[in-house]
Amino acid sequence: MISAQFDRNCCKIDRSLRYGEYFMERAFGEWVWFKGHPQPFLDLVMSHGAVPFGHCHPRLVEALKREAELVDNNYPFPNKNQVELAERLLSVAPLEQDEYEVLINISGSFVVDKAIELSRIVTGKAAIASFDKAFHGSTLSLLPATDACFVDHSELMTEASIKIPFCEESRCPQGSPSSRTCGCLETSERIIKANQSSLAALLVEPIQGSAGNILPASGYLRAIQEICERHNVLFVVDDLQVGLGRTGRVFSIENFGVENPDIIVTHKGLGGGFYPLVALIARKSIFSAVSRNPLNATVFGGAFLNNAFGCGIALEVLDILLADGVLERVKENGDYFLLGLQNLFSNHPLISRAYGLGYVIGMELTSPDEECLSRADIAREIIAEGMRQHVILYSRGGDGERIKLSPSLTMDRAVIDIALEKIRGVVATASESLLLQSVSRPIGGRNRDGTRGLAFAGSS
Ligand SMILES: Cc1ncc(COP(=O)(O)O)c(C=O)c1O
Repeated sequence: MISAQFDRNCCKIDRSLRYGEYFMERAFGEWVWFKGHPQPFLDLVMSHGAVPFGHCHPRLVEALKREAELVDNNYPFPNKNQVELAERLLSVAPLEQDEYEVLINISGSFVVDKAIELSRIVTGKAAIASFDKAFHGSTLSLLPATDACFVDHSELMTEASIKIPFCEESRCPQGSPSSRTCGCLETSERIIKANQSSLAALLVEPIQGSAGNILPASGYLRAIQEICERHNVLFVVDDLQVGLGRTGRVFSIENFGVENPDIIVTHKGLGGGFYPLVALIARKSIFSAVSRNPLNATVFGGAFLNNAFGCGIALEVLDILLADGVLERVKENGDYFLLGLQNLFSNHPLISRAYGLGYVIGMELTSPDEECLSRADIAREIIAEGMRQHVILYSRGGDGERIKLSPSLTMDRAVIDIALEKIRGVVATASESLLLQSVSRPIGGRNRDGTRGLAFAGSS
């Protein structure tokens, strides 16, 4: 009944991953219950990290009730929660506190938009650069900065945009091992310099979340920041997917020696998974370039600007995150989880490596024969099998060729052990069924022995 209604009434998301077959009824901690499935599912995605401490965290539920009785919306008046939140964010951010101010609004894309608006106003320039395979949001103004591989009908939506290479920790896009001499920095500087007269800002995802949690090469981000400084281009950090403790540090740039960015947009989990609240921290000199004509209301506008209720929840989120030992445990448990994955798949025909930092984790897939079986097909099968075995996984990357995990920051070792066991079983079954499919229904390619289909050596 419900699925018939869904088919009739709702737009379909994630069509290829078929999550639409599962109707969420309730969720708690790491677990989600779907209609028609009495046993819960282990959630290793957590709305791409927007749910920071597991579902319906009791302290956040209490905070929601408390705040709802005190405040709702307050536009255009300042409020106590907003002031406290701004102060707390500044006190933990890797920047010179007195030089910065905080703007709080709704949703990631909306706030990254504000970063672009501010960058254009303060520099008097209009162009925005971003990295290859970046994702910065889904509003129309952000589509050029978001890589075309993530944009629906990109041929209609993205104007020519300025892209620079993201030098990955394990593999430089220019083909050589990542290092200060691999050429990526020179390419980036050449592009930034050539465009400096029109270029307002470079948007930076410190770890490329939607591309599959791709980590930067050592020293790369700091060097890019220096290049931006040299050519008067603002360095704008988009921490929406990997900030707020997910790497074991409050802001992800703390891992990469980057301090005092011109603008930083905080993580989407700041509203605890209940309220779409995001903060933008920028230099005071940037905010003060905005004219204060009372009739202009775009930069400091929006009906939910500085929403007191949302800020109240965010204060509780920071209390939970900054309690003794929480960040340290994210790092330690993240290492433990990653090591477990690396041990499981040290020699696997479909998974070339597991990598990550804290609870930003990815697995890169490999195909014995891309013509026969694409990496995106392998990812889809692993995810579908995950749902059959009650574990929620996700695939990302330019072609959906990486498995991406963003579990609850409070996931402990007992649950990690369950997660590892489930992932082991899922990958084993998915590998087996891909092998069977390719033998019974060859889709191209030829094995070494001349038979059609795929040969899997030692798959487990
Ligand atoms: C790095 C990054 N920037 C911006 C956004 C857009 O945020 P939202 O979906 O809240 O609009 C996302 C969303 O996933 C993101 O990962």
